Amino acid sequence: MSFIIAVAGKGGTGKTTICGLLIRYINEKFKKPVLAIDADPNMNLNEVLGVKVDHTIGSIREKVRENDENMPGGMSRIEYFQLMINQAVVEGSKVDLLVMGRPEGSGCYCAANNQIKKAMDDLSSKYAFTVIDNEAGMEHLSRHTTQNVDLLIIVSDSSWRGIQAGLRIKKLVEELKLNIKKQVLIINRISGEYDKEYYEEILENNLLLLGMLPEDEKVTEYDKKGIPLTQLPEDSKIVNVLFSLFDSLGTKGFDGFREL
Ligand SMILES: Nc1ncnc2c1ncn2[C@@H]1O[C@H](COP(=O)(O)OP(=O)(O)O)[C@@H](O)[C@H]1O
Ligand SMILES: [Mg+2]
Repeated sequence: MSFIIAVAGKGGTGKTTICGLLIRYINEKFKKPVLAIDADPNMNLNEVLGVKVDHTIGSIREKVRENDENMPGGMSRIEYFQLMINQAVVEGSKVDLLVMGRPEGSGCYCAANNQIKKAMDDLSSKYAFTVIDNEAGMEHLSRHTTQNVDLLIIVSDSSWRGIQAGLRIKKLVEELKLNIKKQVLIINRISGEYDKEYYEEILENNLLLLGMLPEDEKVTEYDKKGIPLTQLPEDSKIVNVLFSLFDSLGTKGFDGFREL
């Protein structure tokens, strides 16, 4: 079974950046294979990881919809999905990436979605870790991919609205009855003073604040030049602080990792 980590939060708060650096952390610390799933319709995890993407689950679903009557080579639809999904995985040296693409249209295509879900669960189970870059609405978590998450990282910026969005995700998780073992909050792009009232609200809502990440000019510089953020130097502010936050979870926070 894969150890599943999902990252969620309001748009622009740093989810994809944190996902990319989390993948690097897992690579360096545990040296185990990671499957990354980009489940944000604003898909750009590949840019942070520095890999190119040709196919998305959305485009595969469309293709199957067009050829629904005749699957190639007498394959069943589930076999075809499995084949296509395996082909859509971008294999990097340290991480494999699967991109969801845009969500399905208004017409329900539940049978296909269930088959996709099954094929993705099968794929994910082959990796020690699965890291999912989610959108705030958690649609993919509730409908497509597995509903079991070992660690949910909610990301917020330091704004009041960012924190409210984070707290809403926590409520959504409860409403959707997602099975999430542990939830933590990371507040990103801190500069200057931090408003004490926010802490109280976070505490009142029983959300564990894992820590805060500084505003890092190196991130801006790498972004401007189009250099993958996973290549940020080890001593950059964000890498330094984020890695120590992950360290503070302890190996246990990453499930031991199954006794290494
Ligand atoms: N700690 C930080 N310091 C400076 N810039 C950051 C930091 N975290 C994220 N950014 C920048 O903010 C923008 C949004 O980040 P991104 O990870 O794409 O957010 P999301 O995935 O939540 O939409 C990007 O341009 C990213 O480089
Ligand atoms: Mg993103």
